Amino acid sequence: GKGAAPDLEKLRFLSNDDVRSVQQDFGTPTYVYDAATLKARAEEALAFPNAYGLTVRYAMKACPNGAVLKLFESMGLNFDASSTHEVRRAMRAGVPASKCSLSTQQLDDDAITLMKEHSLEINCCSLSQLDTIGSALPGAKVGVRFNPGLGSGGTAKTNVGGPSSSFGIWHEQFDEVVALAKKHDLEVIRVHTHIGSGSDAEVWKRVSSMSLDLCERLGDSVKTLNLGGGYKVGRMAYETSTNLQEVGKPVTDNFRDYKERTGVELKLEVEPGTYLVANAGALVTKVQDVACTSGAAKGNDFLKLDAGMTDVLRPSLYGSQHPLVVVPSDAAKDADDATHEYVVVGHCCESGDLLTPAPDEPETLAPRLLKSCERGDLLVVESVGAYCSAMSTAGYNSFPTAPEVLKTTKGGFVSIRRRSTLDQLLQNEVQVDASQL
Ligand code: LLP
Repeated sequence: GKGAAPDLEKLRFLSNDDVRSVQQDFGTPTYVYDAATLKARAEEALAFPNAYGLTVRYAMKACPNGAVLKLFESMGLNFDASSTHEVRRAMRAGVPASKCSLSTQQLDDDAITLMKEHSLEINCCSLSQLDTIGSALPGAKVGVRFNPGLGSGGTAKTNVGGPSSSFGIWHEQFDEVVALAKKHDLEVIRVHTHIGSGSDAEVWKRVSSMSLDLCERLGDSVKTLNLGGGYKVGRMAYETSTNLQEVGKPVTDNFRDYKERTGVELKLEVEPGTYLVANAGALVTKVQDVACTSGAAKGNDFLKLDAGMTDVLRPSLYGSQHPLVVVPSDAAKDADDATHEYVVVGHCCESGDLLTPAPDEPETLAPRLLKSCERGDLLVVESVGAYCSAMSTAGYNSFPTAPEVLKTTKGGFVSIRRRSTLDQLLQNEVQVDASQL
């Protein structure tokens, strides 16, 4: 099978009453995360098939709130950081740097400090990073991120392998890796690859074989192969999520073959972001306005939200679709079944700030058909746990960033980040007098 399509009803973790109480207690827009879903996803990831040991690293860039990190750490997860700032952030949440590995495009001086003083593990992502670390810490144990020459991703923007990708050391530069390791007496203990968000079983199988070849050529200093993240989640009814057992099986077989060939029991690392958090997040928004162009030949009804691309950038950036659920402000209307076609627009002054297809775009699978609603009703944008709050921006149109709330396993809602304020937005702006200019 290709994994299961999501049951959209099951995917919802907020009842209509939950949604209204979130509005009452925290205002809108507000991100809500579900602790039960986060835990269930972490358990699934921890059951990933492996032959000789497994480390699950949460790619914290997907949703770096300290409460999420703490919850995952308590379940035995480790972490993948994409910058030293993320490592420092994890440390502030109480996660030791030794539980993090860093794979970054931008290696700064703090990376060396963190490696030396806090046992941070680093996957060198370029030849110059290998040289930098080797010069600063000769004899160190390092990981090497390769670009195995093969990429995969839901869209070109989330594909990070192959010759058009800048991520990792190109596999044909293998000899230069060996030379640099030798020059600085570095011990390469881990091979790392991450080829994109949205890879499927066949790709994983090929990437694991290609990566094992690199491990073998590097020799038995290599103890771990990290195959990155990128498992798919079903957000819309037509999308399927990755079946981890199916993806893991051939990888495990490859690891066993590797041991037969080389005698080395390689540990597996996986590094999911999306899979762990995407379907554990929802954004509660309010319908600010309903406007129409119905006088025109092809008129439209627009639902204008009090949130938009500053909170959920994925639709504008990748054309991604997130399920939209209307929740009446009046509980008595929950049972009404009238529906209507809307174009759902965000709050920014950008015609591309849309959650359903633009009026003049051909019909796609993104449903414009929603429960009929009016100003003051609520609309939940589902499956926003990954890369939504994380990619949100404070400042465009001077909108604040939305708060984050956790639905605990006991059922209550706990604030885990407040709404930003205008003072915070302006705190680093330097006041100058017009006469100075
Ligand atoms: N490991 C590394 C080294 C990565 O760069 C990433 C994601 C992951 C793991 C986790 O990948 P995931 O399991 O989340 O697909 N903003 C995009 C995704 C960008 C992913 C960047 N790297 C989105 O909203 O889909």
